[in-house]
Amino acid sequence: MSILLLGANGQVGSALRKSLRPMGTLIECTRDQADLEDATALRSFLTDIKPRVIVNAAAYTAVDRAEDEPDRAKRINSDAVEVLAQYAARTDALLVHYSTDYVFDGEGDKPYAETDDPNPQSVYGKTKLDGERAIQSSGCEHYIFRTSWVYSDTGNNFVKSIRRLATEHEELTIVDDQIGAPTSANLIASVTADVLSQHTQGTRQRTGLYHLTASGETSWYGFAQHFLEADRTSGARIARVLPIPSESYPTKATRPKNSRLDTQKLRDAFGVVLPDWRVDVDSLLATMRLQETL
Ligand SMILES: NC(=O)c1ccc[n+]([C@@H]2O[C@H](COP(=O)([O-])OP(=O)(O)OC[C@H]3O[C@@H](n4cnc5c(N)ncnc54)[C@H](OP(=O)(O)O)[C@@H]3O)[C@@H](O)[C@H]2O)c1
Repeated sequence: MSILLLGANGQVGSALRKSLRPMGTLIECTRDQADLEDATALRSFLTDIKPRVIVNAAAYTAVDRAEDEPDRAKRINSDAVEVLAQYAARTDALLVHYSTDYVFDGEGDKPYAETDDPNPQSVYGKTKLDGERAIQSSGCEHYIFRTSWVYSDTGNNFVKSIRRLATEHEELTIVDDQIGAPTSANLIASVTADVLSQHTQGTRQRTGLYHLTASGETSWYGFAQHFLEADRTSGARIARVLPIPSESYPTKATRPKNSRLDTQKLRDAFGVVLPDWRVDVDSLLATMRLQETL
């Protein structure tokens, strides 16, 4: 089976390199081989490669910058995804794609199910929703996994930034009224491989839209407190952390306060286990500390 992985250098893409390699011939592509902003080049690239499965981990993910670059975000998150979906529909290929909790407005007070109406409040959220809709209306066979608060040991993310800032400052303030589930790139990659394996073996082929996050919930403040506490107990000099409301930390893009996603559909359909969010955070911290001592 030939699998084309797009966005292979991103957080999720890097984790997918490892989880998908045993599954077939994996063609690992970065922006250099396939630029999602160039629809014409992307079409001919697909025609040359002829993948049977496309896993798209590439995206325009700079949530605040997208407010100033809506056309660019649209080209990558919506238009390119439409090209992938049309190719998949035409050739009976399978498309695996990732989306976000930011398709919701966050006004609800319970975890969002796949059947809840999206209402994105940011350019990023709108372009990601348009990408989802392009896939759904193409008629191609697909899995769309909406996830949230992704972190990993590669690239820039909340864990790395806050750990660095906590050694540079006496005090940090972090938002405590946005609630979600920090989800490791590794969890997303291993669930993707599991679903893909069940799909290709024909055991379970329930294509469609799924919510994929770690279990449990916390705020950005709670998330930071958790990993900084572990750093503190290991003796590092770490800033005091104070909770603040979103209004005290204005950002260009509006973020949902309720980012919780209901993952029951995914667990029922594929029997996957989604551990508590702290499990992978602790394992990442252990890896980072080991690397820091080398
Ligand atoms: N990060 C989060 O908190 C989060 C939350 C919810 C959902 N998601 C979704 O999860 C998926 C993976 O996110 P991630 O955190 O792994 O993102 P990421 O680390 O920012 O990686 C995105 C990748 O997309 C590539 N890319 C960007 N523009 C491109 C272009 N024009 N052509 C080709 N490649 C391009 C980037 O390439 P370069 O390395 O060259 O820049 C990067 O490797 C995305 O669909 C995202 O929307 C992420």
